[in-house]
Amino acid sequence: MDIKIVYFSQTGNTRKVAEVMATTFGHLGHSVQTLPIKKASPKDITRCDLLGIGSPCFTGQAPTPIKNFLRSIPPIDNQPAFVFATSGGAPGKVLYDLTSLLRRKGADVIGGTLIRGECFHPAPCFIHRYPGRPNSEDLKRARRFALNIAEHVSMGKNGLVARSRFDAFHKGWKLYDLEGMFTPDPLVRLVMPKPKLDPAKCNKCKWCIYKCPMNNITLKSFPIIGSKCIRCYRCLTGCPEKAFNANFLLGNLILLSLHNTVFERRFGDLYYDEEMYHEADKPTANWNLKKLIRVLQGKGSERAKVAAARTLGDLGDKRAISSLFLALRDKRATVREAAAQALGRISDERALKPLVSALQDRDKYVRLEATSAMGIISYKESLEGHSSVSRTVKESAAFEGLTLASRDKHWLVRRAADKALSKL
Ligand SMILES: Cc1cc2nc3c(=O)[nH]c(=O)nc-3n(C[C@H](O)[C@H](O)[C@H](O)COP(=O)(O)O)c2cc1C
Ligand code: SF4
Ligand code: SF4
Repeated sequence: MDIKIVYFSQTGNTRKVAEVMATTFGHLGHSVQTLPIKKASPKDITRCDLLGIGSPCFTGQAPTPIKNFLRSIPPIDNQPAFVFATSGGAPGKVLYDLTSLLRRKGADVIGGTLIRGECFHPAPCFIHRYPGRPNSEDLKRARRFALNIAEHVSMGKNGLVARSRFDAFHKGWKLYDLEGMFTPDPLVRLVMPKPKLDPAKCNKCKWCIYKCPMNNITLKSFPIIGSKCIRCYRCLTGCPEKAFNANFLLGNLILLSLHNTVFERRFGDLYYDEEMYHEADKPTANWNLKKLIRVLQGKGSERAKVAAARTLGDLGDKRAISSLFLALRDKRATVREAAAQALGRISDERALKPLVSALQDRDKYVRLEATSAMGIISYKESLEGHSSVSRTVKESAAFEGLTLASRDKHWLVRRAADKALSKL
């Protein structure tokens, strides 16, 4: 397939995701081109087999530069496309913006995903939120999404790609969707401070002029900010001489009142086992074993159950395994996947049998996690060298399961099984 990925990225998070997706497509034998919008012209959006559009989220929506770019591209009737975004815990309508603009040009948008990205906004309450994101887990999710997309298009499937984000296709009405709807650029300019230059520090290197996504800085005797500023603060955070500053007194108060941990968890996208700044921010950090098991077995939300399963895996406490066996039969694939992963991390031989059953799951990622978990458990068992009788029983269960997985219909599962078998 001929694939094009066009993205807007200020601080590199969206670029990282675009590159991981491109590498994944490349490994599958497709020809891929990645283009930042600074280097792409609307005419570059010519027909291809698959088009990807990526962007960060600014103020609950897609930023003006990518919106302007998508408005200016020629019609692309029935062009298969997908969207992706990176954000903090309040993505609002960013994915929906990208989807709607592409659909207006006639594209057939088949999937959308969202990946967490570290925030480099200079307001004191935003500094270093989500440090190190996207991390390896985030990039793994981006890779999986790319695999799903490639498979969907190559096989000529109809409808949406498996595990696409719901909010990429449906308008939401929660707090951050409303923030995205009711904060156009002029309002952002009104409430957020304008970057101010300290001429004594500026050496006129022109970096800010080149980097401003709105081409809004001109060099007279010193860099001058024009009237199109979207308050992205790239000039301020990136200037090598730290020549820009801004007074965030009011802006910080507004941002903190909207974007705090409680609201982002309640109305946004912040997971229970995800921290904004520190480990202690996670609610799961205060959940003891009893509470984690209760959440996993209760009627709670999908997010809470996934978080409970993952945290039980981190704890490695064998008392959790029977509740994880039950979670392997949950109706939501993400919960079953997290349970299989946790069983692998706890590494108790009693999990082998339920994991063998999970190999029949209809979701490939549940089968993949079950295979990897079986690989970990049986490898540990073989290293520990138990009594020959019990080892034969255990090994036969593991080998039987892994051999079954090595004939799975999905190559990812087959690869994980072959890897585990060769290790053994
Ligand atoms: C000006 C600005 C506004 C932002 N607004 C939001 C927001 O409303 N919601 C959110 O979840 N993240 C927000 N973020 C965080 C970014 O979406 C996130 O850091 C993203 O990964 C940046 O991507 P990039 O490195 O590709 O530019 C904002 C960041 C900046 C700089
Ligand atoms: S990047 Fe900083 S030092 Fe360079 S021109 Fe802009 S303000 Fe001056
Ligand atoms: S002037 Fe600075 S804050 Fe305004 S749009 Fe340009 S880079 Fe962003």
